[in-house]
Amino acid sequence: MQIYIDSADINDIKRAAEVNLCDGVTTNPTLAAKAGKDYNQVLKEICSIIKGPVSAETVSLDADGMVKEGIAFSKIAKNIVVKVPMTVEGMNACQKLTKQGIRVNVTLCFSANQALLAAKSGAYFVSPFVGRLDDIGKIGMDIVREIKQVYDNYKFKTKILVASVRNPIHVLDAAKIGADIATMPYSVFEQLFRHSLTDAGIKKFLEDWEKVPKKK
Ligand code: E4P
Repeated sequence: MQIYIDSADINDIKRAAEVNLCDGVTTNPTLAAKAGKDYNQVLKEICSIIKGPVSAETVSLDADGMVKEGIAFSKIAKNIVVKVPMTVEGMNACQKLTKQGIRVNVTLCFSANQALLAAKSGAYFVSPFVGRLDDIGKIGMDIVREIKQVYDNYKFKTKILVASVRNPIHVLDAAKIGADIATMPYSVFEQLFRHSLTDAGIKKFLEDWEKVPKKK
């Protein structure tokens, strides 16, 4: 499974890139607002650090507006993927952008039926939001399982990009289901490395190493 960083913070992206385990990046208007810089400039910087797909989100509500924004984003760098929402207008824009060879990430997906429509519209990625479903008392990961089944049944090429990831359990569950990608905040990425027994083990080995007789 690929790992993407869900952030518009250049420091997060740089730190993730340094360990060579970041396959791509996703952004959205909320993350762009947090970054507090011009969105196009941020996208340009991210694309210069990360060679994998970098998702840039449109904000228009009509298909023509989304297509216009998407075309502009696609000129920033070759690895830009355009995010459109899972709406009728969004699917219209998805079909138009895809026809022009621009890859689309259908975002705000909360059901397998929506994911079916995204795939039929030629989406490159579909983004089921697991955390936000958990927040309203549903089991977010259930829809990832359903989407995987539907896509496998019909051999859809659309990749499942698990989004709204809040903790390492989401990451593991996504991998167990066979999702293509999980996108996560840098804090969750960092948590994947950690285990208290790893820390305790290193401490003990270092203590014991001091007791090993050394040649003078
Ligand atoms: C990524 O593409 C999504 O926009 C993001 O994962 C949403 O996460 P949130 O639900 O934590 O805001």
